[in-house]
Amino acid sequence: MATEHHPTPDSPTAQDPQHDGGARCNGCGTSRRSFLERGALISAVGVASTVGLTACTDDIRAEDNAPSQHVGGTPTEAIQLAELPTGGLTTVKVEGRTLLISRPAEGEVHAFSAVCTHQGCTVAPNVENGEDVFSCPCHGSHFDTTTGVPYGGPAKQPLTEYTAGIDGDWVMVTL
Ligand code: FES
Repeated sequence: MATEHHPTPDSPTAQDPQHDGGARCNGCGTSRRSFLERGALISAVGVASTVGLTACTDDIRAEDNAPSQHVGGTPTEAIQLAELPTGGLTTVKVEGRTLLISRPAEGEVHAFSAVCTHQGCTVAPNVENGEDVFSCPCHGSHFDTTTGVPYGGPAKQPLTEYTAGIDGDWVMVTL
């Protein structure tokens, strides 16, 4: 098992759950906050350009839904394959990070940060209505177990995904 990695704590601040407030609009070159403020001002004086605002809103929406991929460099043993049967979900602690691992098919694994993208609570594997989910105990956000995409609840951004794969008897996650 690898023992060293760059210190990037798996914490709400590292994940920046407040990212929404500063999200950039690529189409109009302004932040979400200033965009909203500007939008309110423009609306107040009744001179808004509907076409321009729609384009920026679409850009923000696309950015909110974009997958978040952890960029790391050290493939690390996360869990033995024998401990994660096909169809299984689990939580593991690797190098101080809490990771959610899913194995939807024999040779397919996925890994995500357990830090909720809403306000940073710890997301956990769960079964609801007979369906496997990653769910947050704080405000009820649910995340797809193979993509990390949120559905239901207040979280708008996907869980941060880590590169994961199978190497021999191990599920490897690149930290
Ligand atoms: S912190 Fe997870 S849903 Fe609010």
